[in-house]
Amino acid sequence: MKILITGGAGFIGHNLAIYLKNNGFNVEVIDSFERSTTFAIKRLEEADVPAIRISIIETESMRRFFKEADAVIHAAAYVDVAESMEKPLIYLENNVLGTASVVKASLETGVGLLIYLSSAAVYGDPIRLPIDENHPTNPISPYGLSKLMGEEVVRFFSKYGLKQIVLRLFNIYGPGQNAAYAGVITKFFERVRKGLPPIVYGDGEQTRDFIHVDDVAEAVKLVLESACVGEVLNIGSGNPTRIRDLATLVMRLHGVSGEPIYTNERLGDIKHSCADISKARKLLGFKPRINLEHGLKKVLEESY
Ligand SMILES: NC(=O)c1ccc[n+]([C@@H]2O[C@H](COP(=O)([O-])OP(=O)(O)OC[C@H]3O[C@@H](n4cnc5c(N)ncnc54)[C@H](O)[C@@H]3O)[C@@H](O)[C@H]2O)c1
Repeated sequence: MKILITGGAGFIGHNLAIYLKNNGFNVEVIDSFERSTTFAIKRLEEADVPAIRISIIETESMRRFFKEADAVIHAAAYVDVAESMEKPLIYLENNVLGTASVVKASLETGVGLLIYLSSAAVYGDPIRLPIDENHPTNPISPYGLSKLMGEEVVRFFSKYGLKQIVLRLFNIYGPGQNAAYAGVITKFFERVRKGLPPIVYGDGEQTRDFIHVDDVAEAVKLVLESACVGEVLNIGSGNPTRIRDLATLVMRLHGVSGEPIYTNERLGDIKHSCADISKARKLLGFKPRINLEHGLKKVLEESY
């Protein structure tokens, strides 16, 4: 089965590519390389995964690669929430028009399945926990809005015959996360690697649902092996972790003593987030296998 990954030289994309290749899939990636890392490109080379420089905005250039693909995993996007607050329009242009362009190429070339990597950011501040797929969507950043609009574009074109599935990813961690746009785990790692305690915004009582990128890749593999089409599925661990506990765990794993540094809350940060993954469990048999401590150790080993 031939798989094409957009944004495949990014953090999630390259980990997915390697995981699927190791599981017998024929994988190719396209990426503008605008926000990819040398770490990801080197790992793709080592795994013998071809990486082609194309922007998803260029529908015509993508067609040749889409034509040969049985399934396309659409991971390309700008992903920095704070940047999206400052430059909302480039997020809409790249993430929404880019997705429309991916949809167009998929329809024109008869791609068998388009897997759209969406985000828990579409839910915004949750009104109930854990968050199931029927939870109202109410993004609080232009990034979240762009991911939701991308979903709408993908869903709308089902009417034109597009076979699609939307995966709403929660907080992903793993090797090769781009430090400039990374989440809290990469930022904590950056600090402890310098022997410094992590900086926690607010009291650290806020919670997030962290899932290792290989568990996400397993969920994507299960989608590819299933007949699941037209669904929206949450992909997370299903477990909330307090940020203060994450900070002390990262310090312990890296041998940094003392206490995390607590500073002012960040405006716009949500307090709690946790996925209800029962739908993915039921439809795909999805069960995350990597617990946080083991996953963090793995990242520490692989990222040096
Ligand atoms: N990292 C997370 O925790 C997380 C959580 C939820 C959802 N997601 C989604 O997963 C996907 C991948 O995120 P990531 O964390 O790997 O980000 P990333 O920035 O590491 O990777 C994105 C890749 O897309 C590429 N890209 C951006 N615009 C492009 C364009 N116009 N044409 C071609 N390539 C382009 C970038 O160069 C980069 O290599 C995104 O769609 C994101 O919304 C990520």
